[in-house]
Amino acid sequence: MDAARVIDRCVTLAACTEDPGKITRTFLSPPMREVHRLVGRWMSEAGMQVSVDAVGNIRGVWGSGPRLMIGSHLDTVPHAGAFDGILGVMLGIELVEAVKDRALVPYGIPAPYGIEVVGFSDEEGVRFGVPFIGSRALVGDPVMDDTVLEAIRAFDLDPDEIPKAAIGKDIKGYLEFHIEQGPVLEENQLALGVVDAIVGQARAVVEFHGKAGHAGTTPMESRKDALAAAAEWIAVVEKVAIEEQLVATVGRLDVRPGAVNVIPGVARATLDVRHKDTLKLERAMKLLETSAEEISTRRRIKVCWEQRSVQAAVAMDPAMTEVLASAVKAACCQPYRLSSGAGHDAMILARKVPAAMLFLRSPGGISHHPDERVNEGDVASALAAGKAFLETWRPA
Ligand code: GLV
Ligand code: MN
Ligand code: MN
Repeated sequence: MDAARVIDRCVTLAACTEDPGKITRTFLSPPMREVHRLVGRWMSEAGMQVSVDAVGNIRGVWGSGPRLMIGSHLDTVPHAGAFDGILGVMLGIELVEAVKDRALVPYGIPAPYGIEVVGFSDEEGVRFGVPFIGSRALVGDPVMDDTVLEAIRAFDLDPDEIPKAAIGKDIKGYLEFHIEQGPVLEENQLALGVVDAIVGQARAVVEFHGKAGHAGTTPMESRKDALAAAAEWIAVVEKVAIEEQLVATVGRLDVRPGAVNVIPGVARATLDVRHKDTLKLERAMKLLETSAEEISTRRRIKVCWEQRSVQAAVAMDPAMTEVLASAVKAACCQPYRLSSGAGHDAMILARKVPAAMLFLRSPGGISHHPDERVNEGDVASALAAGKAFLETWRPA
């Protein structure tokens, strides 16, 4: 197995971007075609049968009969690093490379199961504000917004075929490798971490509608400034997050008409809130919605709250996670357990099949940033753990 090749491939895919000089690749954007060409080639070389399903997930199947699915996502946030998601797909392909000719594997895989590697078309939810478009189709809960369906058609895929993307009884488990995207493993001087649970996350779009007007002639007391309302509300978001001990982010703010000498008429903010306790998460969302309404009423403007998604916190499968922890030990690493603050496709697949996740140390804890990195030695450890997992895990 070749850790350097895994990293090289991530770096090669980083060149497929909507924004030259940066890594930006959203759901079914044009550069995803080149990603499919390259990933499809690597999957074929590893002996897999390759297809692209109707939501644009690329899928490579090795072997026959019941299968273990190994996957992660191929889309990115704007101005991303090269490894978030992509690394997990490349590790899956490398593991199939390692087992495709069983005679070459020192201990072989006696288990009668195949492997399906999947590169999801969307996990980040950047293009349409809804995450997991790729993996949700696999569990029979596809995102059917008109705008999403239009993007699917524009990519020459057929939305009528979406039901066929759903997994059947032949998929017996889901394994995801991912960079940690935080500092915990590095602080503990550990290469790998076994994920026990993934926090819940809720997203909304909040649009404040005021009245645009002349910045020089409109007295302060008669203004209906949408951005001033949004700013007041964003301060509440931060305060609630601190008081309630959860994380909340307004990551995007669009202001219209957006001119230096015009009072903002519309301010549209995205909201992302996370906590491992789903009830607490829902309570915080309600509190923030009420606060947006209260601020808007007081300022005599309107607010439109659109809840985009709620994903409950998800525990990983205990039995599969135990096998993974033993595999980590077999790879001479400490089987350290931690929870994930980031969302992952594993939380969607866990609705249908046992799911487990392995984290790789993120140098500097950096992610969603072009400085995101991974150590080659940690990738080698992940491959060794993956191989030990394949040797010992058995479909139930
Ligand atoms: C994905 O990276 C997320 O947690 O938003
Ligand atoms: Mn991400
Ligand atoms: Mn990711």
